[in-house]
Amino acid sequence: MAQRIDIPPGEAEDPLIGRRVRDFSIVECIGRGGMGAVYRAEHLLLREPRALKVIRAELFRAVPHAVERFEREARIAVKLRHPNLVLLHDFFVEDGDHFLVMEYVVGQSLAELLRARGALSTAEICRIGVQCCAGLAHAHELGIVHRDLSPENVMLTPTAEGPMVKIIDFGVARAALSQETTTRVSDATLTRVGDFVGKPRYASPEQAGSLRPGEELDARSDLYSLGLVLYEMATGALPFRSESAVGYLALHLYQEPPPPSELRPELNISPALERVILRCLEKDRAQRFASAAELGRALEEVSRENRARLERAPARRPGRAPLAAGAAAVALGLAALVAWRFHSPVSPPPLTETARAPATPPPAPVPAPAPVTRAPEPVPAPEPTSVPTARVTPKPSPAPVPAPEPARKPAPARVAPKPAPAATSPFGSDEEMDAAFEAAVQFEAEHGPADAVANWKKFRARGPSPALDERAKRRITELTLGGMKTFP
Ligand SMILES: Nc1ncnc2c1ncn2[C@@H]1O[C@H](COP(=O)(O)OP(=O)(O)O)[C@@H](O)[C@H]1O
Ligand SMILES: [Mg+2]
Repeated sequence: MAQRIDIPPGEAEDPLIGRRVRDFSIVECIGRGGMGAVYRAEHLLLREPRALKVIRAELFRAVPHAVERFEREARIAVKLRHPNLVLLHDFFVEDGDHFLVMEYVVGQSLAELLRARGALSTAEICRIGVQCCAGLAHAHELGIVHRDLSPENVMLTPTAEGPMVKIIDFGVARAALSQETTTRVSDATLTRVGDFVGKPRYASPEQAGSLRPGEELDARSDLYSLGLVLYEMATGALPFRSESAVGYLALHLYQEPPPPSELRPELNISPALERVILRCLEKDRAQRFASAAELGRALEEVSRENRARLERAPARRPGRAPLAAGAAAVALGLAALVAWRFHSPVSPPPLTETARAPATPPPAPVPAPAPVTRAPEPVPAPEPTSVPTARVTPKPSPAPVPAPEPARKPAPARVAPKPAPAATSPFGSDEEMDAAFEAAVQFEAEHGPADAVANWKKFRARGPSPALDERAKRRITELTLGGMKTFP
């Protein structure tokens, strides 16, 4: 069984930050997880941002044939070219550490969005779900199963039309480091079911052990995981809850999910959407949609029905008097928004037009300073990480236990020190922090949503006070969904 790298947080101690590796200057750490760390970097010649995922050499030494497998998987992943999949630009090895060079995705993860907003509207769910299907369909056509689809691995970039999906974290490293051998669907000789490394909350029954001897994991496993993601978008929570990784796997194997409308009756979840979600969550993969493309078409149909329903709704066709009242309300709203941008410490109500009440009511637009409250975490249970196999007849794990991570590895020899860029340096004073916040608000008014989100992330990276950090996070969320106001 693969082990997680235990890298303590704290960027100041990270020897890679502010360094140069080959053509890249490493700016900041943007994610740490089971397989290593992900950094935002700048390509020094192209002056373009990139995301660098680094897998430390120690992990490879611990798992037999991991390097060969990693390289083979990278050769497959580099073929993925689709607007809804993160682009893998390059791959290199420096002092034994493996670097994946990826397109840098501006935005937030669906997990962050769900934490901030709770349940989403039918339109938002369909927009995100359809794009997930498009990206997965492309990968599946190439014989690649993601294996770890979850809200953490769905990045959302804001655009004028609404969030654009980029699926990240294809199982390049995971397939190499787990005893589960490959991400290829078609090559039976390379496929074996064994220990699986991923998020048990989002695992399919097949990953939990339902495959019979001779059967292979296939694309329908991703459709189950996507069903869980759709479920979470619809309800703000997952159908199952357990204290342990093995508990989750057992639930995926044997427990019927409660229908979303039973979990959250007050949300009036679209019955058509519910049918689609529950079909994804069938234990028997033969009962699910046959492909990501078919699921995508079903979601498009739900979206069309939803749009037609909203257009029929009386609130959408105001007569003259309501129109005038509506115009006055809009004017008032705009005035409130302008006032908020410059004075109010709380976020304006979400701009997104939803078919039903949002799970988390928007905060009242009061101008006086108010304590900032966090939206409740929809899924409070901590994510169990690496899990043993949950096959009904478990086989002994042949994986040697990797040596514990030694003290932080020194930077590779060819890495030249470089001072960290000023943009992420901490604030010198409260005044400087307040001024930076105001500047970011101003920036938002003058730039497109993706640039504005990138700018808010820079602001957050400098470590503002919790209250300002919360407001920055809310702005990122509003900007991510903002385009949806034109998408009923
Ligand atoms: N290409 C990217 N662009 C921007 N952020 C990214 C990118 N890839 C990863 N991240 C960030 O790093 C985090 C961890 O990356 P991921 O590839 O999912 O690794 P892990 O194996 O640790 O889950 C993500 O949740 C995301 O916040
Ligand atoms: Mg991930």
